[in-house]
This record gives sequence, C-alpha cells and structure tokens, in this order.
Amino acid sequence: MENKLTNTFRNFEHEGWQKAAGQYDLGFGAVTSQSVDPLLNAVTAGSGVRLLDVACGPGYVAVAAARLGCSVVGIDFSSEMITLAKEMTPRATPGPEFREGDAENLELPDGSFDAVVMNYGMLHLALPDKAIAEAFRVLRPGGRYAFTVWDAPPKTAGFEIVLDAVRLNGNMNVSLPEGPPFFRFSDPFESARSLKAAGFEDIRTAVVPQVWKLKAGIDLFQTMRRAAVRTAALLNMQSPEALAKIEREISERAEEFRAHGGIELPMPAILTSAAKPS
Ligand SMILES: C[S@@+](CC[C@H](N)C(=O)[O-])C[C@H]1O[C@@H](n2cnc3c(N)ncnc32)[C@H](O)[C@@H]1O
Repeated sequence: MENKLTNTFRNFEHEGWQKAAGQYDLGFGAVTSQSVDPLLNAVTAGSGVRLLDVACGPGYVAVAAARLGCSVVGIDFSSEMITLAKEMTPRATPGPEFREGDAENLELPDGSFDAVVMNYGMLHLALPDKAIAEAFRVLRPGGRYAFTVWDAPPKTAGFEIVLDAVRLNGNMNVSLPEGPPFFRFSDPFESARSLKAAGFEDIRTAVVPQVWKLKAGIDLFQTMRRAAVRTAALLNMQSPEALAKIEREISERAEEFRAHGGIELPMPAILTSAAKPS
C-alpha cells in the first residue's frame, strides 16, 4: 500500500539511480547482460512479439529483443538511464522505444503486450507486488512474464563478500530508508506466491549460472560504491575508519577468486517466469 515509507524508499532508489546511471554500464553491464538470453527465451521472444522491458536501465534486454524482431518498449523511472539507453542503442537496430515510466504505475493500455520482462528491477521496487499486478494488466491473455533477481548470498560471491565485510568491520544498521527485503524474490516459493496472487499460472524458476569478471579485487568495492544504490548507501554511510577496513577486506577476499588473469566471481541469477491465463 502507498504510504510515506514507500514514497521515501522510492525517492531514495530514484535519486540513487539518477546518480549511478553513469557508472552502471561499466560496473554491472557485463554481468546483468548474461541474463538477457535466458530472460528472452522464457517469454519466447521473437519476430512480431510486442515486448515491454520494465526497469530497462541502459536497455540491454530491449536492444536484444529488438534484434530478434520484437516490437519493444523500454521503460525506466530514471531519466538518466533512459538517456543512456537511447545513447547506447546502435543506430542500425530497429529501435526500441525508450521512455520514462514507473514499474508500479505503467501508463500503458490493458492487454497491449505479448511479453513483459524485468532484468534486476524487482529488488529495487518499493511495491513489487504492484509491479507484478501491472505486468499482469498490460499482458494479453496467454502472454508471458519473466524477471531476474540475484541469487542470495553465499551463492552470489559479490554480495557475500561485501555484506560479510560490513558485518565484520562496520555497521549493518545504518539508517537507510526501509524497503522490501533485497533477496525476497530469490526465494522461488515467495515469487510463486506473489505471482499466483496476481493471477499468473505456469510459474517456473531456473538458476542462471553467471560469472562476474573484474580486473582486480578493489573493483568489487568501487563498483558496489558507485554503481549500486542500497549496497552503495550501506557502504557510504560507514565511518571513514570502518570504510577503510571494509575496503581492504573486500579487496582481499575478492582476490581469492583470481583466475585467468582477473577476478571471477560466481553471481548466479534466479529467473522466474509465468503466464497470464488464456
Ligand atoms: C539494477 S538496474 C537494472 C538495469 C537493467 N534492466 C539491466 O539489465 O541491467 C535497476 C533499474 O531499475 C530501475 N528502476 C528502479 N525502480 C524503478 C521503478 N519503480 N520503475 C521503473 N524503473 C525502476 C532503475 O532506474 C535501474 O535502471
């Protein structure tokens, strides 16, 4: 339900993404892009499919879907992300239409899409159940919905290392705006419960194995600080002394994953998909 808390959290996320947009592609693009093909397969994206990419960020999913011949709309509530998506879209692509919009209040007609996807958006929403209901509304009967989120630590080594370093050297209880649990939709039962409640059927979950390649351990710290939102705020609100220890710890632990001349962190995604009944 809308209230002051959800608005505070939404504004915090919005402000965070406006700031992080410039760093996001360099920081996370190479790992979140690994989910694009499984996500598009889950909604059987292909020629002529009307596809909505919600929380599109720089547009990785939208561009790939357009290349498959889908007719694509990409929406994001960050104007900075939408500008980036437009800049990054190759001119030759039969272009997705990118526009500003809120996942929880889609300004789109009922039943107007065959497929709705969201790559790593769910964990940033103040009211994710409202976004699921909106996806259901804009899908045509028989249309498919799919979203990815990070698997929970310790399986996602990047989060395990960062959260552990804060737990050991800093303060996990800094005052952040209250929001839904970050790893809520990493639990297939929780996702199935929410999707069923919205009216979806044929609910499926899969693990997408992914590896986040970084040049050096320190890049994990820098990326989480500059290109994320909630995790960035958790780090940036530590005392200078604690932050220095956290930085050292993250860097050293990430270096334990050195392989093939760089750092290779396991960062699996959980892919959930469902259908609107025909
Ligand atoms: C982790 S990024 C994911 C970007 C992209 N989908 C990808 O594949 O990497 C999360 C995105 O969700 C967007 N976002 C967060 N809350 C939103 C909301 N309520 N409505 C629309 N976009 C939202 C952010 O602006 C950001 O671009």
